[in-house]
Amino acid sequence: MQGEGRATPVSAAVAVSESAVPRAQEEEPPGTPIPEPFGVNDRGHLTIGGCDTVELAATFGTPLYVFDESYVREQMRRYRRSLAAHYPKSTVYYASKAFLCGGMAALADEEGLGLDVVSGGEIFTALHAGVPAAKLMMHGNNKSLDELALALDAGVGRIVVDNFYELSVLEEMAAERGVRPRVLLRITPGIEAHTHEYVETGMVDSKFGFPLVDGLARRAAIMALRSKSLELAGVHCHIGSQIFSAKPLEAAAEVMLAFMAEIREVTGEVLEELDLGGGLGVRYVEGDDPPAVESFVRTIGRAVRYAAKRHSYPRPHLMIEPGRSIVNSACMTLYTVGGLKEIPGVRTYVPVNGGMSDNPRPALYGSKYEAVVADRAGDAPTRIVSVAGKCCESGDMLIRDVKLSDPRPGDILAVLGTGAYNYSMASNYNRIPRPAVVFAANGEARVMVRRETYADLVSLDVVPERAAVISPAVPGVADAVASAVAAVDNAEDLAVGQRRIDD
Ligand SMILES: Cc1ncc(COP(=O)(O)O)c(C=O)c1O
Repeated sequence: MQGEGRATPVSAAVAVSESAVPRAQEEEPPGTPIPEPFGVNDRGHLTIGGCDTVELAATFGTPLYVFDESYVREQMRRYRRSLAAHYPKSTVYYASKAFLCGGMAALADEEGLGLDVVSGGEIFTALHAGVPAAKLMMHGNNKSLDELALALDAGVGRIVVDNFYELSVLEEMAAERGVRPRVLLRITPGIEAHTHEYVETGMVDSKFGFPLVDGLARRAAIMALRSKSLELAGVHCHIGSQIFSAKPLEAAAEVMLAFMAEIREVTGEVLEELDLGGGLGVRYVEGDDPPAVESFVRTIGRAVRYAAKRHSYPRPHLMIEPGRSIVNSACMTLYTVGGLKEIPGVRTYVPVNGGMSDNPRPALYGSKYEAVVADRAGDAPTRIVSVAGKCCESGDMLIRDVKLSDPRPGDILAVLGTGAYNYSMASNYNRIPRPAVVFAANGEARVMVRRETYADLVSLDVVPERAAVISPAVPGVADAVASAVAAVDNAEDLAVGQRRIDD
């Protein structure tokens, strides 16, 4: 792959408004520098991981998720380094819900992180990629019996118990198997993270975890400590995602240590582990200003040290579970632009060959993104347009009001910062095959997930016999399909005719 290096400060497009109200074309937002880790090469093409994005699109097709592998690794190293510096007794778990495939699981393992998994599918993916079960931390507010069985049988390192039902079921299942899993209790600390309500999880009115109110969390801890089949290692909380200040996490550290001290007072037991979840926010558009990994981690480490001291509690083993901040800014999604729709004085729609099927976040949360015409990333953006997805929903708009460099049909459009909660939330809505995922590093690109085909789309269908014909995705099969269907029709006609004769 051709293309060089890191970002040179050129103009890129900026999403300026999520408003559904059409805006006048003259209200032009300024261009901003293309954010790290992306760049522009001497052909004026957008680059990632030393690869030319226009070439990537030609080679692998679009839509295409492209990750800068070195950036992902560096984010993981930053977390490990800073946590080791500010709180050595600690472990970083990658929250795989942000983005997971076999290659990503292996990468996190190689970088020395554990994996936070939240379903049987995520456990299976991690094990399939060779991640040792002991390095997995299992979450979920309604784990199925099958998922718990998978976790127990595989020997998952820690199970985070969410509710009383799960506590008793897990105890029974562990006793039946003669195993003693290490568990943490998920606590809802009653803290508001000041983020989107859909990703706020730590307040009292939450579907997750044991509330502190009415002594419910205390009761759960006492039950778990009394259990002969469970080893209660500690407590967990996750207060929310896309958080721009570590302050709520400082508060969470205090609440959690106060709770641990309360349990020690009531039972005499010292819980060894404290997991404060993930949540550090990322920059999606200009103006987003999250703290650096280092300062976020420093604040958390200090908060736990101080809280332990305040409660005269031995410093627990501290775990954190970042997801978004590890992968989001590493990735862009490449699309091909279709025919523009211009409504004079109202809006110009730039349709792309993907949308809410590969990135549901704008439709789900009203999320904002930046975009660049990859073919002319070195040119100043000139026109305010809106990027429309191809799904049959008016709400499938990837970006409203973004300034681009004169987009034309056939251009490659890059939507930036799509690493987290895009591929993992992608769907086959409208029977659109999911895009491929590639990792780019040092000018080379490797496929991590191949593009879905139409044959993949129908591979799980159980169709009535009449339509059970070979996939038309296989070359030359369209005719076979047509003749097979005709043959079935013919047979039916004959059968009907025969019945008439018989009658
Ligand atoms: C339990 C838990 N841990 C970690 C995370 C990761 O959060 P983020 O991607 O914001 O770092 C989440 C996200 O929802 C979560 O639910």
